[in-house]
Amino acid sequence: MNNIKGFPDSFMWGGATAANQYEGAWNLDGKKASTADMMTGGTHTVPRRITVTTEEGVHYPSHEAVDGYHHYKEDIRLFAEMGFKSFRMSIAWSRIFPNGDDATPNEAGLQFYDNVFNELKKYNIEPIVTISHYEAPFALTDKFNAWASREMIDCYVRYCEAIFNRYKDVVKYWITFNEINSLIVPAGAYLAGALLVDKRGGVFNNTAVDSTQLRFQALHHQFVASAKAVKLAHEINPDFKLGCMINYSHGYGSTCRPEDMLQALRMDQINNMMSSDVQVRGEYPDFAKRYFEEKNILIQMADDDEQILKQGCVDFYSFSYYKSHVVGTRPEGDETQGNVFGGFKNPYLKATDWGWQIDPVGLRYILNHVYDRYRIPMMVVENGLGAVDVVEEDGTVNDTYRIEFLRAHIEQMKEAVRDGVNLIGYTAWGCIDIVSASTGEMAKRYGFIYVDKDNEGKGTLKRSKKNSFYWYKKVIESNGEDL
Ligand code: BG6
Repeated sequence: MNNIKGFPDSFMWGGATAANQYEGAWNLDGKKASTADMMTGGTHTVPRRITVTTEEGVHYPSHEAVDGYHHYKEDIRLFAEMGFKSFRMSIAWSRIFPNGDDATPNEAGLQFYDNVFNELKKYNIEPIVTISHYEAPFALTDKFNAWASREMIDCYVRYCEAIFNRYKDVVKYWITFNEINSLIVPAGAYLAGALLVDKRGGVFNNTAVDSTQLRFQALHHQFVASAKAVKLAHEINPDFKLGCMINYSHGYGSTCRPEDMLQALRMDQINNMMSSDVQVRGEYPDFAKRYFEEKNILIQMADDDEQILKQGCVDFYSFSYYKSHVVGTRPEGDETQGNVFGGFKNPYLKATDWGWQIDPVGLRYILNHVYDRYRIPMMVVENGLGAVDVVEEDGTVNDTYRIEFLRAHIEQMKEAVRDGVNLIGYTAWGCIDIVSASTGEMAKRYGFIYVDKDNEGKGTLKRSKKNSFYWYKKVIESNGEDL
């Protein structure tokens, strides 16, 4: 039923972070290294590296991040002041199972999230929990080359069982994997820490060889792990709501030449729809079968995998949205940038300082496009502008550029709701400044709350409100009417 008025009263306004970009405390209270903890700092032009041991004198941004581990009370109070109804966060797997295959979970790690959930409850903020956000215990990755091996499935399901049981009365919304479709490309597999490969598909140890075959096999293992987790979750608490999470970078055809449009369609199918088809409908789509054949990809499946996928369909569809690109014939050198999926520049769009093309209308397009396909509740769980902020002498940050970006996207979301899309929530990415996933920088800021810390890891970690803080508070108060 169309909601001509706009956002429903129950709309879950909020913000989002990920453990490895926010918490720090990488080796405290029993936690051991995750894949993200082995990633060095980088910049827009200098790529991050994954190291197999932590190197002396090298900056690893996740080790302290913005120290959410010790600041979460203060931060949640600020979220509450903005009026957050929801907070998307992730659990650091290696805080719960430090080695990934430990006999019992780490009580201190479980206790930390008890405390976080209690704090959220105090302010009636609904947690939306990502189970694996671009990280896994490094020990597992080292042992198995992570998701290249089927063994990861059981380790992941045991971890899920521990957190589902522990938090069954305080968490309702769960996301099994952040941006699961990222694994399709080398940059995504690297960022997700899902394989021991580097950004260009290089290899870190001689047992691992990156290939399209390996990435799709790893993705299949994550699909099975996700489906098993969904089934288990529904058994533990039938009220649980489980979601998929897709990195949605929409590719428009570069021209109306039929071949360009067809190429855009194919890319949308493989990059975006294949993963959600498996997670929402419980089976690989037919176009994937043809694609695998053409690319000589042979997915090794256990006898009951197809049945497991069918039994583990998610309840809602969530996605991240930052940018769009163009697909088809274009001169070389016309490429656009992004953290995972690239394509060509669109002459009608402007880009951020990091070269991500800004396209609010694309958000309405995707919401309609995906809702038409699945007809299940949708959430935008990441969206925002990474920008350099300047702190004025009086301590203010006049981030009008961020307000403009978010306003334009929220306007388009509202249009999508009026189109009839069942959109239930929006969590702005990096609601407090955190470490950038792709570059490891602090200078690429998304927050409503400024954190005093720089790219070298220096700063007081002091929190302060940017102008966008007051603006977002007003947006939430008016349920998206006062933009
Ligand atoms: C998403 C990731 O792809 O993009 C986040 O889920 C990430 O972890 C976000 O932070 C923004 O990217 P970046 O590289 O600007 O931090």
